[in-house]
Amino acid sequence: MGSGKLVDVPGGGRLLIVRTKAGEVRAFDPRCPHTGSIVSPPAKGIVDCTTHGSTFDAETGDLRKGPATKGLTAVPVRAAGDRVVLG
Ligand code: FES
Repeated sequence: MGSGKLVDVPGGGRLLIVRTKAGEVRAFDPRCPHTGSIVSPPAKGIVDCTTHGSTFDAETGDLRKGPATKGLTAVPVRAAGDRVVLG
């Protein structure tokens, strides 16, 4: 279903980190592709941008509903023990 949370990144910025139902860790730029608001953490498999109502799939970042016209931008990460590492 996709759970996750927003985290601060050292040096500035934020990431949306999600864990898929298969246990995979993924990350997305939390800035909404519509006009840049920070999206909310996933709930029931959906990431919501409350500014204008766009929604995204919590596991893939794919657009579910506009006004945004594309999904969230994926950021490459990998799990290293209990940490998430960029790249
Ligand atoms: S900024 Fe997210 S829907 Fe408009």
